[in-house]
Amino acid sequence: MVKTVPEAENPQIPAEPPAAPAAVSVPTPTVSHPEVVDNAIERPVFETRDLAVRYAGKPAVLGVSLKVPEKEITAFIGPSGCGKSTILRCLDRMNDLIPSATVEGTVLYHGHDLYGPGVDPVQVRKRIGMVFQKPNPFPKSIYENIAFGPRVLGLKGNMDEMVETALRRASLWDDVKDRLKDNAFGMSGGQQQRLCIARALATDPDVLLMDEPCSALDPISTGRIEDLMHELKNSVSIVIVTHNMQQAARVSDRTAFFIVDLDGGEDRRIGRLVEYGPTGRIFTNPHDTRTEEYVTGKFG
Ligand SMILES: Nc1ncnc2c1ncn2[C@@H]1O[C@H](COP(=O)(O)OP(=O)(O)OP(=O)(O)O)[C@@H](O)[C@H]1O
Ligand SMILES: [Mg+2]
Repeated sequence: MVKTVPEAENPQIPAEPPAAPAAVSVPTPTVSHPEVVDNAIERPVFETRDLAVRYAGKPAVLGVSLKVPEKEITAFIGPSGCGKSTILRCLDRMNDLIPSATVEGTVLYHGHDLYGPGVDPVQVRKRIGMVFQKPNPFPKSIYENIAFGPRVLGLKGNMDEMVETALRRASLWDDVKDRLKDNAFGMSGGQQQRLCIARALATDPDVLLMDEPCSALDPISTGRIEDLMHELKNSVSIVIVTHNMQQAARVSDRTAFFIVDLDGGEDRRIGRLVEYGPTGRIFTNPHDTRTEEYVTGKFG
């Protein structure tokens, strides 16, 4: 399929990921436990440094420094309210849409400052797709759901091919090829979620952010999404927030564990990154006792 993608007007966010790794040599510190953050990621798709988000001035999550590897699956886990969704939204500037939210610190995307002056959040979201907890297809046909993003972004090319490619990549083509004009609401929940993944893929992003994408799905639909994630990581980097520890262990290459730190009282609940590293190690040999207690089900 030949597709002409308009060049991003902003030179800071490349329309395509750079071929050569961006030179990022600054060590990544972390606030909670510098010794337990795995820094052996040479080509991060994202690097956050001391990232903090406040809502209406009240800190929600502070001091998050981590590197997200390319073409791997990174899981964010931790108890409710620890800031997983908040940090995920920093990675595609979705917090810009929440008026009370302020973001401090640094987010580098392929070495470029995602919050730098002149960066166009629309271009950012073309490269970085988001899938939410509840499938949220548009009240349109299956075809129009997929065609929407490429149209809005003015992508040139054969729309039928773009739609088919996105649906194939989301393992949905065979299910829907004979009913592309049907309303998306007629699909099952699992199909709707794969449609949302296809919709995110239609603009050919290089990152997919997924916020609890399976929590509204039955085990079979969940398994299909997990299989799909394994296939997609050949071509996209994936960050998934999940409450399902087995899911994090099954699908992810790396896991970041966050907590809610009471930091002086119930009214000062602050999310923090505790530990980050290869998923196998986080689940079998965590370095922090809080991680161990969480992954073994003692709290959370
Ligand atoms: N739009 C918002 N306005 C005000 N406060 C918010 C907003 N979104 C999140 N928060 C607060 O920020 C903190 C982190 O919330 P966040 O939703 O990121 O946590 P989470 O780890 O994703 O939780 P869950 O597992 O329940 O989804 C919480 O204290 C939450 O109340
Ligand atoms: Mg959340």
